[in-house]
Amino acid sequence: MPRPSASTPLIPTPDRRAGSPLYLQLAATIEDCLRDGSLRAGERLPSERRLATQLGVSRITVTTAYKELEARGLLRGDVGRGTMVVAAPGEEVQAIPWAERAIRYGPEVRHLLGRVIGRMNSSGPEAISFVIGWPDPALCPRRALGGIAASVVKEAALSLSALSPVAGDPALRETVAWWLRTQGLDVRAEDVLITHGAQGGINLVARAFVGPGDVVVTESPTYVNAAIAFRWTGARVVGVPMDAHGMCCDLLEEAFHRHRPKLLYLIPNFNHGTGAVLDLERRRRVLKLAARYRVAIFESDVYGQLYFDVPPPPPLRALDDDGLVVYQGSFSKMGAPGLRVGWLVAPRRALEALVAATWIGELATSTISQRVVEAFLRGGHLETHLVGLRRELRARRDAMVAALRTWCPTVTFDVPAGGYYLWAQLPPALRARAVRAAAATRGVALCPGAIFMPNGGGHGSLRFSFSALTPATITEGIRRTGDAIREVTIDR
Ligand SMILES: Cc1ncc(COP(=O)(O)O)c(C=O)c1O
Repeated sequence: MPRPSASTPLIPTPDRRAGSPLYLQLAATIEDCLRDGSLRAGERLPSERRLATQLGVSRITVTTAYKELEARGLLRGDVGRGTMVVAAPGEEVQAIPWAERAIRYGPEVRHLLGRVIGRMNSSGPEAISFVIGWPDPALCPRRALGGIAASVVKEAALSLSALSPVAGDPALRETVAWWLRTQGLDVRAEDVLITHGAQGGINLVARAFVGPGDVVVTESPTYVNAAIAFRWTGARVVGVPMDAHGMCCDLLEEAFHRHRPKLLYLIPNFNHGTGAVLDLERRRRVLKLAARYRVAIFESDVYGQLYFDVPPPPPLRALDDDGLVVYQGSFSKMGAPGLRVGWLVAPRRALEALVAATWIGELATSTISQRVVEAFLRGGHLETHLVGLRRELRARRDAMVAALRTWCPTVTFDVPAGGYYLWAQLPPALRARAVRAAAATRGVALCPGAIFMPNGGGHGSLRFSFSALTPATITEGIRRTGDAIREVTIDR
């Protein structure tokens, strides 16, 4: 849909004594507006009738001026939609208005996308970022992975001429199944599908099992890219509130009853927003409810191994006797996200649908990445690496908690027992956006909680990621955040 111009720029009345045709004067004036940015691509011009009345010229003058600019590729007229700006003068005229046709996201997601893409392109003006949940490159097991990668590339030279099997490299499927069995999950190689990271797995589940009109229930907050992936299929996403023990089961039952969803997407271990863990009793209750309402469960366990003291309760997949659960893991958060290797474990029929979706959407996963992860797991490197990673993440969590208590005493939060994230509640009536803006001027990037709430709300909360910053940087970032909170509090 074309956007109406926020405010139609002031277009002066053509001068009848100037000697040049009125329509050409008008076209030149509009061109000036395009050049100086007071009219921009995607904006709509006033209707011919309205502009003619406004300027006191005939309608044919406006029509001819618009046509002149259309012929030059600057405007486009659509029956029933009016006339719209396509390009500014001097800009390459696009046959297809790509930006206008692209899927539009809400403002919060646009902000997040800006952050992610900005961060990939440059270090950005904000020196300390609590926004993105990347693992710290300094903690990546680079030496072990580098050695393995070098020998895999040598060995793989021949096999690169063919695709990996659609469901994944057989050795990796076997090794992932073994590794999950060491954690108490009853998994065989044929239950495993290798994916392009966890995100690839989310897209497969979305494509294979949900479509227009379906409802997907998630925690609220949840992982924003999962909510977007489900919405892309045409499904509606309904968030169920959480407390310190995970999703509230009474509200979950209410949502099942009311919306009859097809899928429940859960991050029971160290939730992407709050860091909460779903307790054992609730895990059992979720399974019972899902069985009663015949809702499939998509369990994301990408953070489960990143506990600081004690492991979380067994995954829902381990407690499931009814074939309700598709379970997800990934090498990204505990190893190296650049390899893009994740996995799904699913009941046989579900796996068949997921393999079909893989073949249609992706054909296969990278052979080299799979072999590197396979050798890393098989060689026992992951266990060694996890010991150090947990210790480092715990130190970062501790630094964040101590700094918040010192510098942001009006903020409340639960202390996460693992994972990457801490969810902070601002004092009543303080808006996260205002704090974010004040923090940005101090070189700190904050992430408003509202991004993670599928049904709105969360405007008074911030989600901090502590995974990628050293304890000293966390302390400094939180000190500046405290200053930002005080500034916004005083301004009110
Ligand atoms: C819950 C969850 N799933 C998936 C991902 C993406 O993981 P991957 O890099 O394996 O695609 C993230 C990353 O933030 C996440 O938090």
